[in-house]
Amino acid sequence: MKKSGMYMPQIRGYKAFIPTPLPPEITIDENMFNKLNQANKLLNQLNSISEFLPNTDLFISMYVKKEALLSAQIEGTQASLQDVFEFEQCEYDFDKDIENLKNINDIEEVINYIKALNYGIKRLEDLPMSLKLIKELHKILLDNACGADKTPGEFKKTQNWIGLAGCTLNEAKFVPPSPEDSVQAMGDLELYMHKKNNLPELIKCALIHYQFETIHPFLDGNGRLGRLLITFYLYWRGILTKPLLYISYYFKKNKQEYYDRLNMVRDKDDYEQWILFFLDSIIKTSESALADIKKILELKEKDQNILFKNKISSPLAIVLLNKLFYMPLISIKDIQKALEIGYQTASDIIEQFERIGILKEITGKKRNRKFVYAEYLNILSQGTQL
Ligand SMILES: Nc1ncnc2c1ncn2[C@@H]1O[C@H](COP(=O)(O)OP(=O)(O)O)[C@@H](O)[C@H]1O
Ligand SMILES: [Mg+2]
Repeated sequence: MKKSGMYMPQIRGYKAFIPTPLPPEITIDENMFNKLNQANKLLNQLNSISEFLPNTDLFISMYVKKEALLSAQIEGTQASLQDVFEFEQCEYDFDKDIENLKNINDIEEVINYIKALNYGIKRLEDLPMSLKLIKELHKILLDNACGADKTPGEFKKTQNWIGLAGCTLNEAKFVPPSPEDSVQAMGDLELYMHKKNNLPELIKCALIHYQFETIHPFLDGNGRLGRLLITFYLYWRGILTKPLLYISYYFKKNKQEYYDRLNMVRDKDDYEQWILFFLDSIIKTSESALADIKKILELKEKDQNILFKNKISSPLAIVLLNKLFYMPLISIKDIQKALEIGYQTASDIIEQFERIGILKEITGKKRNRKFVYAEYLNILSQGTQL
């Protein structure tokens, strides 16, 4: 029988888990086979739709934001999609003070995740999946006040553990390998990523995520980094041709099950139940991503028609509507800048968009007003509510 690993007594008295290097022997029964096919089919649809979309970049940048937010939320980050847009809006408008945003630390975690995702996709052009890449990503991910004492970009040098917040090593639910054993295990994992074997890539990816979480090589950020690895691995292997998968959607929705199933691999040496859960997450997330694309395209058409019907179809109006899909939270000043127009023109056109219900003012103030493209933000926000 395959063993997922063993508990090794440590000098200080506790036991730490040492995972068996991948791959274990996996039984692909009919159920798993069907799920595999379905997941592959949906990923192919996601890949091919991105070839035909008029503005793929838009969907990529929105889905990257969504994945970043969901993944950070799994670990308790308190930020919303609107917060992320608000942050970007501040960056766009230099007069605004980012530090004034109420939950700036949490937003920064999401922004770092977005940076890491974009960086990794670019970096994979000249660097393969590797420990080097993993460390580079970790450095970006933890590049903020909260991460400073968590040795960004470096593997752990002290023992870590998983359990309820604030629990001691002895109360831990799970103690991952020691720093030394962890280095060895990460080396094995790197080799496995490059190894050609006869397991389907999606199964390999599921195993890699499990193994990474079990090794827990960093002091913090292991959850987020392990989820980034899913996107990067699939992208690197050409299973995903664009980073359009916000897999954390399903993990967040089923967070306890996600943790329990990781545990169950170790407790019962049962890899298959984790793989099935992982495949479900690919299936559900791809379905959701495909449905979102459809909804967004429909919304765009609907609002274009509303503009025409209301005779607001100047080129400027069309440009503004397009812009809103990139910047769903906008001020009059932003519009002046983005469309290179004067204050009065910007203010007039916003008023028109407000009148026909495309934009909604959200500050309730007379000055420094902000407008949101609510219907669009609602589609994107699905699943990201706190
Ligand atoms: N029992 C477990 N076994 C293995 N991994 C787990 C277990 N419970 C939680 N995890 C993983 O650990 C992550 C949390 O680790 P942590 O280093 O704090 O990451 P982050 O800083 O991104 O929250 C979870 O998101 C999950 O992926
Ligand atoms: Mg953490």
